[in-house]
Amino acid sequence: MSDKAKITFGEKTCELPVILGTEEERAFDISKLRGDTGLITLDIGFKNTGSTQSKITFLDGEKGILRYRGYSIEDLAEKSTFLEVAHLLIHGELPSAKVFEDFSKDITTHTLIHEDMKRFYEAYPSKAHPMGILASMVSAMSTFYPGSQDPNREAESINRTIIRLLAKIPTISAWAYKNSVGHPVVYPRNSYSYVQNFVNMMFSLPTEDYEPDPLVVDALDKLLILHADHEQNCSAAAVRIAGSSRCNLYSAISTGVTALWGPLHGGANQAVIEMLDAIHADGGGPDKWIEKAKDKDDEFRLMGFGHRVYKNFDPRAKIIKKACDGVLSALGVTDPVLDIARHLEEVALRDDYFIERNLYPNVDFYSGIIYRALGIPTDMFTVMFALGRLPGWIAQWKEMIENKEPIGRPRQIYTGAPHRPYVPLSKR
Ligand code: ACO
Repeated sequence: MSDKAKITFGEKTCELPVILGTEEERAFDISKLRGDTGLITLDIGFKNTGSTQSKITFLDGEKGILRYRGYSIEDLAEKSTFLEVAHLLIHGELPSAKVFEDFSKDITTHTLIHEDMKRFYEAYPSKAHPMGILASMVSAMSTFYPGSQDPNREAESINRTIIRLLAKIPTISAWAYKNSVGHPVVYPRNSYSYVQNFVNMMFSLPTEDYEPDPLVVDALDKLLILHADHEQNCSAAAVRIAGSSRCNLYSAISTGVTALWGPLHGGANQAVIEMLDAIHADGGGPDKWIEKAKDKDDEFRLMGFGHRVYKNFDPRAKIIKKACDGVLSALGVTDPVLDIARHLEEVALRDDYFIERNLYPNVDFYSGIIYRALGIPTDMFTVMFALGRLPGWIAQWKEMIENKEPIGRPRQIYTGAPHRPYVPLSKR
């Protein structure tokens, strides 16, 4: 097969080089297209547009494959830990025992946040959504570490910012929750593992003894691994494009948090539980909701269903569904919405509308049920997703900076009014 694609437009023909990926994925490079033919490409929502060449995550939506740096998500979820995966994504390799010890120690000794930041919590309304708090606090971190402003600084300075983000975001997140329930914040404990520490900051109280339940810690660790990266999704693309202006890393990550918050992306995990609760409260079973989701005049969508790239199954959803059964039975939790979720899935997967459009449960369909069983409140679900996605965002940003990618600046086709003369206010 030729390694060039040809585009002919009128009299002009342009030869465009074909780029080949590790797994035989093909793209043609259109950077010469406008110069040679005067055309740009139009692809609203970037449904068929590659924005970069990346070595981080491989995803095959047709076959349901997801790999971080070549390792399958199934292997990593079963055998690894979240911090190992964070190292893998950010630095490209699984760490040796010694490197891992230093990496973990670096993180556990940077978990405190500046005491002045603690005062911010007093100013947020008590019902503030924790994703709003997280986005603004992460952005505010740049004001506490002005040395981090230049993303082109030496590796050691960038590495310190990366460690601070990984170390402090669990503290910021757990404190947002404590603030929302009016409880005193719990300071980080360096003797705990990453996830143990987070669970302790979320659930321990000064009034009683508390030891994080290993089952809860293991389940959360697995969930964080499953969320750790997903190549050029909405929030990763937001981090890369914001970072391409060479803003500091804190601000780029804050952009990712904001993009993740929406219900069509990470916010779907909260929306799924709210939907399942509504179906439960309604009492009429899933059929009515399936019909609503199919009705073009109704804005309702089956939350947790469908995915831009997975058109067969979402491998993360498979792992989560299995973990969900395990966690609920180990904790002895019975959640009526689990039956509704199973029923809804069964009905939808038999329905022509969903079959024709390749709509399957995605990662968020079952994750909310596990989070709830683990005691995580609903409006913290998307924060959990952000904790998991953090190493992926950092890896995406770092790759974009190291590749010296130019500022992200799409083009457009203008469809507004043609040139017209200005009419003074008195004459309108
Ligand atoms: N319920 C009902 N219909 C749906 C759903 C759904 N959940 N998802 C897609 N469709 C339909 C669309 O109406 C469209 O139908 P049409 O061809 O007749 O117009 C068709 O399926 C294709 O959908 P698009 O919106 O064009 O697909 P896109 O790739 O742009 O959107 C998305 C993907 C945003 C995930 C979509 O499936 C959705 O809104 N799902 C619900 C929200 C959700 O679960 N988001 C989490 C995604 S996973 C993540 O980000 C972590």
